[in-house]
Amino acid sequence: MIGRLNHVAIAVPDLEAAAGTYRETLGADVSAPLDIPLHGVTVVFVSLPNTKIELVHPLGDASPLAGFLAKNPTGGIHHVCYEVEDILAARDRLKQAGLRVLGDGEPRIGAHGKPVLFLHPKDLQGTLVELEEA
Ligand code: CO
Repeated sequence: MIGRLNHVAIAVPDLEAAAGTYRETLGADVSAPLDIPLHGVTVVFVSLPNTKIELVHPLGDASPLAGFLAKNPTGGIHHVCYEVEDILAARDRLKQAGLRVLGDGEPRIGAHGKPVLFLHPKDLQGTLVELEEA
């Protein structure tokens, strides 16, 4: 059911420094920062030939990333995102299999303008998984 790896998100305490490392040291194609108030994050997109890395930093006081960075002050892998063809069908199938969908269970528009959902890490080997309708 899941398709391509859309991106890996890395939470970073210093977005400018992280973007610089990817641009200058790793020689990657790095975007300008983009604020996404709905998700409480600022994102920098790193485009790789076969996928994307998203450097994410908290935006606002209620950011869901604040707790993660408190526990991981130097940053760390926050989630992986898999593409699905039909996000509602995927959600219903996974819920039926006993996986927990975070929030109210309804897809929200993600960083790429497409509907996304997050699945509880305890149900997926300790990994926060985002699904994005491709
Ligand atoms: Co994501």
